[in-house]
Amino acid sequence: MPIPTIEWADGKIRLIDQTLLPNEFKQIYCDDLETVWEAIKSLRVRGAPAIGIAAALGTVLGIWKSQADSYTAFADELAKVTDYLGTSRPTAVNLFWALDRMTKTAESHQHVPISQLKQVLLNEALVIIEEDRAMCRAIGKHGLQLLSEGDTILTHCNAGGLATSDYGTALAVMFTAHEAGKNISVYADETRPLLQGSRLTAWELMQAGIEVTLICDNMAAQVMKEGKIQCAVVGADRIAANGDAANKIGTYNVAILAQAHEIPFYVAAPTSTLDFSTETGDQIPIEERSPEEVTEGFGTRTAPEGVKVYSPAFDVTPAHLITAIITEKGIARPPYTLSLKGLVG
Ligand code: MRU
Repeated sequence: MPIPTIEWADGKIRLIDQTLLPNEFKQIYCDDLETVWEAIKSLRVRGAPAIGIAAALGTVLGIWKSQADSYTAFADELAKVTDYLGTSRPTAVNLFWALDRMTKTAESHQHVPISQLKQVLLNEALVIIEEDRAMCRAIGKHGLQLLSEGDTILTHCNAGGLATSDYGTALAVMFTAHEAGKNISVYADETRPLLQGSRLTAWELMQAGIEVTLICDNMAAQVMKEGKIQCAVVGADRIAANGDAANKIGTYNVAILAQAHEIPFYVAAPTSTLDFSTETGDQIPIEERSPEEVTEGFGTRTAPEGVKVYSPAFDVTPAHLITAIITEKGIARPPYTLSLKGLVG
């Protein structure tokens, strides 16, 4: 991203308000905990790694004005802050990973003065941002070997620079291939109901000069049948120990379609998205979002008043449909229970 998706700027969090894209490019500031929580909840900042970064920086904002005069009092305040941020969105494990990392950082510096401890926590959040950048670049390099000259890739939702600190996960594979001079093109699923594919992925790929064709989600089968797709690459919000992967609602459909058309289906995600404490995808909490996002998503009502709506924001693709998982540490292949653990050591 020429302008960072999310960053620390003069004691505030500055982020691109993704709800306005592609019509308006606007950076907004969060200077208190509630604003960060709202920004995560309403998808101003979104995508698993970016949510993790928002949670880490949000933790810093939450404790910055603390008047605590002992570590115990400070730790109490910190726990309230992290618990609160943890209620914003349930599925992306990066959020909880980042909150946990901030808590552990505080614990391991409990003997430094509180004023210094706040700075330590800020530094940790900045390290998370730097690591995220490096992880995305490494995912891109590993993923490159899975693409061939002339490939057309299908992607779902947005796992690009907007979903991370700058380069993306699934889109990192495409950016890297493009930068390496490979002639690739992309089909982007629109991604109902909030249109991350059309609003964000198409926008990002066009900015990078990568040929992109937008399709509605229900067109993917036909496009695959026509032989237009060589592989699918998507991101993930949480990957269970057995390789089951939660991602934006509709990803599971893409995986089933890919299998039916004998097209490889790849998941690209940093190891911070792996959740070894969750054995299978059945245990991954799935966020349910408000009916209005389906019935009047962008202002115009498209369903009768009073209709019953069910809106899970994510689904879980079973591991057996995933050809490989691309991480910053390398590529994992089935059986994932062994290969994922092998990657992280
Ligand atoms: O609801 P969102 O927009 O936060 O959902 C985002 C996704 O599902 C992404 O594919 C996932 O977080 C990976 S982002 C690198």
